[in-house]
Amino acid sequence: MKKLFVKTYGCQMNVYDSARMAEALAPSGYALAPAPDDADMILLNTCHIREKAAEKLFSDVGRLAPLKARKARSGGRMVVAVAGCVAQAEGGEILRRAKSVDVVVGPQSYHRLPALVAAAEHGARPVDTEFPAESKFDRLPARGRAGVSAFLSIQEGCDRFCSFCVVPYTRGAESSRPVQAVLAEARDLVAHGARELTLLGQNVNAYHGAAPDDGVWGLGRLIRALAEIPDLLRLRYTTSHPADMDDALVVAHRDEPKLMPFLHLPVQSGSDRILRAMNRRHSADAYRRTIDKLRAARPEIALSSDFIVGFPGEDDDDFAATLALVRAIGFAQAFSFKYSARPGTPAAARDDQVPEPVKAERLAALQALLSEQQDRFNADFAGRAVEVLFEKRGRHPGQLAGRSPWLQPVHAAAPAALLGSIATVRVAAVEPNSLAGVLPEVAA
Ligand code: SAH
Ligand code: SF4
Ligand code: F3S
Repeated sequence: MKKLFVKTYGCQMNVYDSARMAEALAPSGYALAPAPDDADMILLNTCHIREKAAEKLFSDVGRLAPLKARKARSGGRMVVAVAGCVAQAEGGEILRRAKSVDVVVGPQSYHRLPALVAAAEHGARPVDTEFPAESKFDRLPARGRAGVSAFLSIQEGCDRFCSFCVVPYTRGAESSRPVQAVLAEARDLVAHGARELTLLGQNVNAYHGAAPDDGVWGLGRLIRALAEIPDLLRLRYTTSHPADMDDALVVAHRDEPKLMPFLHLPVQSGSDRILRAMNRRHSADAYRRTIDKLRAARPEIALSSDFIVGFPGEDDDDFAATLALVRAIGFAQAFSFKYSARPGTPAAARDDQVPEPVKAERLAALQALLSEQQDRFNADFAGRAVEVLFEKRGRHPGQLAGRSPWLQPVHAAAPAALLGSIATVRVAAVEPNSLAGVLPEVAA
């Protein structure tokens, strides 16, 4: 077997794509290796969402050059492939700047990777950043393996064109996989041991897949169908847009116990002026009302979000509105970023960019508030009973690790036989990054 080393940057979609690319390369004789040193192929699956992503890639590629040279001296060949959103955005420029790169492949062309790699093995340096008419999903091999918690891409691309975001350019137009294809892959993953599925899409709740009844299903309907798979215990989905949160999906949160009571729903800002400039097409109040509906449907639901501070033109009042929204809602978890001008996006061209120190100050203030909320959310679990889906062995012998319904990492002393099942543990301690649980039998 030839050795394949994969490094993945960016979002969960990239994690999913990396797994599928590795599976696609297996028939060409490649098997995953834990380190790059002696690899026959290196695959870098890149992200372009914020600053310096491309710079990071070029410095990583630079570090690979000596490994590649050593491989060549010993009579071998190391194929270096760059995939993902930087590949899509930079294309052939990557080959010009980085002599050790052999293949550049964009996110819609992964089914062509084996052929591109075969060409590279013979000395070619192919670039494929097309948005081909055929769907890669129809041409990638079936899954064949799965962890307890598995990702499943159901939707790709985005038509929303938020004014700060590169995704519509790097991933292309929004498209949904047909319902039957999603159900088939879900059953396959569950047959191979998956007990939790996280449905992925750049804008996953815009899902509108062709259905077996000739209709079109939204995400709420799809979730109901997936929940019927007997051995599937939990469902999640990410990432959603607030304006695509329709009633059927809210109802799924009410009626479908397998759908976990945790939702990542990025709001970006609490200021209507900034939300308009971001082209988000919802107000802060509309976001609050959506959260109210979700909480009415599923009272124990916990929320997560993304925030951008220092978007062009953001003033102190705008930022205060963001803090007010955070206080009003209360998040269990959140990600926040300094605005980063992305080449080719409308916001990058604005002349009212916010100075770096102001961004840094706002980010620190926002993160302090968010982490206080997160700590409070977690502290509340001390002494409570929570259901945990055990996914893997824990850090210490005899331990298993998994997640609560609210995505909190939980570890507990537990027999390996519980891997892949849900057990109720009592939370004995709330640690900085996880909950320490005790199984009742073990406690007795
Ligand atoms: N599809 C997702 C977003 C994917 S990007 C959605 O619509 O929510 C993940 C997060 O990165 C975004 O929610 C946003 O908060 C952040 N982000 C995207 N572009 C950014 C930029 N130019 N600068 C800073 N943060 C950005
Ligand atoms: Fe980017 Fe998400 Fe906006 Fe689409 S909805 S443009 S992926 S931030
Ligand atoms: Fe990054 Fe592309 Fe995902 S830019 S966040 S890898 S969609």
